[in-house]
Amino acid sequence: MADKRTILFVTSNSGKLDEAKLALHPFGLNVESFHFNEEFPEIEEIQSSELRHVAKDKLRKAVAIVKNSSNKLGVMVEDAGFFIEALDGFPGVYSSYVHKTLGIKGIMKTLTDNKNRDACFKCVIGIHLDGEELFFEGECKGQVSEKALGTNGFGYDPIFVPNQGNGRTFAEMNREEKQKFSHRGKAMEALRAYLQGRNQSPTSNQCSGS
Ligand code: IMP
Repeated sequence: MADKRTILFVTSNSGKLDEAKLALHPFGLNVESFHFNEEFPEIEEIQSSELRHVAKDKLRKAVAIVKNSSNKLGVMVEDAGFFIEALDGFPGVYSSYVHKTLGIKGIMKTLTDNKNRDACFKCVIGIHLDGEELFFEGECKGQVSEKALGTNGFGYDPIFVPNQGNGRTFAEMNREEKQKFSHRGKAMEALRAYLQGRNQSPTSNQCSGS
């Protein structure tokens, strides 16, 4: 049965999935995750210095894996990264790998005695809608904290203090608060605004044309 209010989010990251649901549910959009299996255990990411290139490649691979998604509103992927100024943007596009290997402690160590703690998160959402590939971006600027604080969220959340948010790390905020400032929250907001505009446009409103 067609379910044109549901977006299929191809991700194995439950933190990203929860945040996407939180951002889109209030607007009547459901977010379902694609269940990876033995045949498709994960999408392999290309090496590129641009999140957008990675997101574009991921989206094409996701659409090929899902095969028949015509009963859904769209197929979505996301690529994000943590960019530390004093490290020339590292870990950036390697954030996932670096988190699994060096971890938060390793990152903190590389910044010991470094006064410049400026950093930002960036996120690119790619969505395949009616045969079109669309991309939405979000960025959140802040600082790498001196200590890892908080237990919420995922990834680098315990060491990132956004410029708004009263000096707390993302991991010290609840999901709703993080959403207000986060790179993902902003990219989701851009996607939601696009979908809303599309629904209101006379050319895309099939009812008014018939
Ligand atoms: P990818 O988008 O799957 O390549 O993963 C990017 C990596 O960046 C994740 O595995 C996390 O370690 C990190 N990351 C992305 N977004 C966030 C976030 O909102 N909070 C904390 N870490 C994040």
